[in-house]
Amino acid sequence: MCGIVGVLGRHEVSPIILDALKRLEYRGYDSAGIATIHMGALDRRRAVGKLINLSDLMVHEPLRGRSGIGHTRWATHGGPSVANAHPHRAGRVAVVHNGIIENFRALRAELAEKGASFTSETDTETIVQLASHYLDEGLTPVQAARATLKRLDGAFALAFLFEGEEDLIICARRGSPLCIGHGEGEMYLGSDAIALSEMTNRITYLEEGDWAILTRNGVQIFDAEDHQTARPLTQINAAQARVDKSGHRHFMAKEMAEQPAILQSAMASYSGVGEGGIDLPEGLDFARADRLIMVACGTAYYACQVAKYWFEQFAGLPVELDIASEFRYRAPVLGPENVAIFVSQSGETADTLAALRHVKPHVAQVVSVVNVPTSSIARESDMVLPIHAGPEIGVASTKAFTAQLQVLALLALRAGRARGKLTPEEYAARLDELRAAPGFIAQALDREDEIRRLTEILAKARDVLFLGRGVMFPLALEGALKLKEISYIHAEAYAAGELKHGPIALIDKDLPVIVLAPHDALFEKTVSNMQEVMARQGKVLLISDAKGLREAGEVPYSLQMPTVPDIIAPMVYAVPAQLIAYHTALHRGTDVDQPRNLAKSVTVE
Ligand code: M6R
Repeated sequence: MCGIVGVLGRHEVSPIILDALKRLEYRGYDSAGIATIHMGALDRRRAVGKLINLSDLMVHEPLRGRSGIGHTRWATHGGPSVANAHPHRAGRVAVVHNGIIENFRALRAELAEKGASFTSETDTETIVQLASHYLDEGLTPVQAARATLKRLDGAFALAFLFEGEEDLIICARRGSPLCIGHGEGEMYLGSDAIALSEMTNRITYLEEGDWAILTRNGVQIFDAEDHQTARPLTQINAAQARVDKSGHRHFMAKEMAEQPAILQSAMASYSGVGEGGIDLPEGLDFARADRLIMVACGTAYYACQVAKYWFEQFAGLPVELDIASEFRYRAPVLGPENVAIFVSQSGETADTLAALRHVKPHVAQVVSVVNVPTSSIARESDMVLPIHAGPEIGVASTKAFTAQLQVLALLALRAGRARGKLTPEEYAARLDELRAAPGFIAQALDREDEIRRLTEILAKARDVLFLGRGVMFPLALEGALKLKEISYIHAEAYAAGELKHGPIALIDKDLPVIVLAPHDALFEKTVSNMQEVMARQGKVLLISDAKGLREAGEVPYSLQMPTVPDIIAPMVYAVPAQLIAYHTALHRGTDVDQPRNLAKSVTVE
């Protein structure tokens, strides 16, 4: 959450920072701000709400200078207001910060006692007040920044700008991502490489605990023990990092439409000389594993929930699955033969990363399935399986979900072979089915007009219920999550068989109930549960294939999906779940790509 950027440029930096913030806005849009140094003087502009408000403000009140820092905020401490917006300033220092300073109350009290007067409710202001205090004590900017960092507990990425210092930004990374960009006579920093993609493709990722001194000539990096250190310079693919809507109305629309192509090319990137023509990282050892631990958040968690069925079915591997924020606070029993899989689109989700760190010393292998191979989760894993989905900007995760499912299916099949549960023929047959997924997903996308019409009714609902059995239960959960987050309609999902144990009390003529039920081994049972809903006048929308719709009899509303092999049904049925949310949100006029209260990358616990 929150995006930070810094530029030591050769020209005016405000437009460059604004542009970089645009690419970071997915991380938060409660407020935005920029501080620069011009003729030695520190000045800043801040505005509540989306970045456009800051751009508008800066048309009337431009900010000059060739050095500056910027911030886009997802509020944690203190609501969205100008006073709480970054950059925060005290005396001669300004700071932008992503993360949480856990000991800010104690620091604030200490500083207040020494006479500091606070103007915001944020934890961040303690950083800038501390640095200012150290400057007043006679420390140099570098000494003041270092002394400040030593006092901070918590997870953060931050950058300091000092009045009178036109060629200096100091930044630090502890728990939250931060990278340095190298230009020609210019230097940059950003929360991710995408932020810097229009300026440079030469990136250095700071490691955990690092802090750095940037000048236009380059960067000096220090580790947590203050030893000067070298970090590799990587060349990123600028074309991949570039983000636009390619003619679509929303990023979410573009990202849904991309799914067939992404799954196709991701499969190609795993193609090779390995068994069944698939190459997975060497050293991946499912044969000896006695248990699989899967941990993730949100949509990635639902992908894991689908994969649990696969690992059990194809590999006979017991799976323990949990939400990252819960997992760590239990006393999970971990063993030396366990393999742990962490799934995350961003690779930066704080809860998932913390769970990974908790597990790593106790298990045989830590595997991550991520979209950002340079992310913290990827870098701290023993093995990384990229999903190759390209930048996902819409807050609602769509293409990452189907791409995660594809990679997890490959893993489950490989585990099945390694454990002798799948014959070579069965393995090859399932792989062929997986290879057919892009075509079927494209067919599901073709139902968009029909889905748009169906959502006219849904858009008027106060609550919506999703039902599914087996792998369709996590799909129901995913459908409800998508609908909640972008249309703000209250939605719940239940395992269809669980309905009669309580939630059926909710059913009346006003409640739309979306039933996800391909004609698979569980179809009859799901249809029975659907009949129970219809008997109580629930407004059912049945999503099934031709055979399912034929056998289900009359239903108020239906949507036909292609007939698909079981293994790819979750990927195909994800599409109507996404499109339902998307078109319902459009009818309701909500902000699809940047729904209220949310941020794309959740880097606070
Ligand atoms: O980056 P991650 O996959 O770790 O993110 C996990 C969740 O925050 C994310 O899936 C979230 O639930 C999405 N907004 C759902 O659409």
